Amino acid sequence: MAGIWIDTDMGSDDAFAVILAARHVPIDGMSLVAGNAPLAQVTRNAAGFAGLLGWDFPILAGVARPILGPLETAQRILGDSALPLRGEAPLFEADACAGAASFGPFLPSLSAWLEAADEPRSILALGPLTNLAILALARPDLLDRIGRLVWMGGAVGRGNHTPSAEFNAFADPEAVQILLDRGVALHILDLDACRRVLIDEADVTALAAAEGRNSVAMAQLLGGYLDIALTRGRPAMALYDPVAAAALIAPELFTFTPARIQVECSGALTRGRTVTDFTSPRPNGWVATDLDAPAIRERCLSALAQV
Ligand code: BDR
Ligand code: CA
Repeated sequence: MAGIWIDTDMGSDDAFAVILAARHVPIDGMSLVAGNAPLAQVTRNAAGFAGLLGWDFPILAGVARPILGPLETAQRILGDSALPLRGEAPLFEADACAGAASFGPFLPSLSAWLEAADEPRSILALGPLTNLAILALARPDLLDRIGRLVWMGGAVGRGNHTPSAEFNAFADPEAVQILLDRGVALHILDLDACRRVLIDEADVTALAAAEGRNSVAMAQLLGGYLDIALTRGRPAMALYDPVAAAALIAPELFTFTPARIQVECSGALTRGRTVTDFTSPRPNGWVATDLDAPAIRERCLSALAQV
């Protein structure tokens, strides 16, 4: 499979998604965007993972705030680092995040990657779509080189960050709107699809006992991620971003249905809501409507156990 580009706001599930993708496909570049945490923290997280896991693909700095409106993060759920952990041990060495200072701007690299394409490229988007909207505005000539843009975002049903909206959509609805306006066809893994792929305590225990070089660190991370659900009285946590990664590397595990996708940019109560019409005669993207949850879970957990 040809290499892919990843755009991410580098929380725990983003890291799981990158680990899963990297196991199956070359990663040609990764751009960072504010989302789960402000860009400076997202950047430290990416540098930390690069050091811990030996990521040697280019990492580029993206945009620090949404197209319009104030920065919205998920830190009230995830904590300041956006990497909640089990236990006291730090995930990264004290100086592991030093490499963050050397990350250059994303737009020249992403543009060059698309320009060099002799066949359509695949992009995996795991956060707010701000960087990709900037690409659409700055280099509209390159949009037809994007073959598949797979995004974890939106909600056909209820939201998570607000009752109406999923976090990545809520954090930058105008970015979604820009891409839709420019005719970029999204493949969406929405909340409803991702909520079918769950991890629980047994998975954390199994990961801690695995023999991968970083299994203990991964169990710390998966445990902290699971605690988001446990502390709210739920026994299992949805694997959001890895489901989108799985859709790129193993499309045979998914059914995508054409739909007309729109986003609410103005509603006072519904800002960020994605409105999905499966009956429209004018579909502009695809939404995952069925998936093989056990197979996706297994691929993700096995990647974490072997990293
Ligand atoms: C999405 O929001 C972020 O917090 C996660 O990383 C995921 O991309 C889920 O709504
Ligand atoms: Ca994310």
